[in-house]
Amino acid sequence: MTTKKKIKNVTRRLFRFFSSPTDVLNSWITEPGKYERMVDFLNWFDSTSSVEETLSQAQRDWDLRITNFRDFDSLSKECCLEIGFGGGRLMVPASQFFTRVIGIDVHLSFKKAREFLRLQNIENFQLKRRNELQAIESQSVDFIWSFIVFQHFDSFNEVMFYLSQIKRVLRPNGYCHIFFGKYSGAGIRVVRPQEFNKRECSLFIDPTFFYQNLRKMGFRLIEHEEMMPKRLNLPLSQVNESGQARVLFRK
Ligand SMILES: C[S@@+](CC[C@H](N)C(=O)[O-])C[C@H]1O[C@@H](n2cnc3c(N)ncnc32)[C@H](O)[C@@H]1O
Repeated sequence: MTTKKKIKNVTRRLFRFFSSPTDVLNSWITEPGKYERMVDFLNWFDSTSSVEETLSQAQRDWDLRITNFRDFDSLSKECCLEIGFGGGRLMVPASQFFTRVIGIDVHLSFKKAREFLRLQNIENFQLKRRNELQAIESQSVDFIWSFIVFQHFDSFNEVMFYLSQIKRVLRPNGYCHIFFGKYSGAGIRVVRPQEFNKRECSLFIDPTFFYQNLRKMGFRLIEHEEMMPKRLNLPLSQVNESGQARVLFRK
């Protein structure tokens, strides 16, 4: 880290220390509602300067990260589900492959996400709130993914909630691909509301700990990767390393 970056980090931490705490979950629930323009709304979830940029970045993430595994082509394509769909950008490429695309999220701006999806002529989608996941039929989903979401949870309990629902709704031949914020210490690190800055990561998980939990729950790990490039057009290096790890698994 450069000296300039270090000073910026210390200043930011000091500022956070003396300001009021930010509720992590509540910030994800309410903040998107503040954005009127579509590009600003989309930018809240994944940095962008235009709708076109969002769409091309989503296509790249879908092709080169989320579905970039051997068995994707042979998967049944009746139904897929995204945990934390944000503005809906990844549901756009998903809708070209699957008959039905379900998005789960906690925010209060589903109307805006629907508008975005309809502007892309997408109709085969359903947006559902976190607690509605429990009403989805057991063993009915062929593919589940979550990208840049698990690192924004406020506790490991939330991870366990989703893993137990994945176990229930995934079809016996289905696949699940989860990207999560990695931690180099043991177990997990949760950022306290006093230290939390909106949009930043709040949960970091030691990959080994995550994989142990998956195995304990009876999942079979197919692939995992702990070192990935942040920007896909540049080689993996110290300055181009993603903060995420990924794990692909089945029941
Ligand atoms: C950085 S955005 C990523 C959105 C989308 N996956 C993408 O790649 O564009 C993080 C998303 O996680 C959602 N999120 C945060 N906590 C959540 C929770 N407990 N359950 C479901 N979604 C959550 C936020 O509302 C937000 O839409």
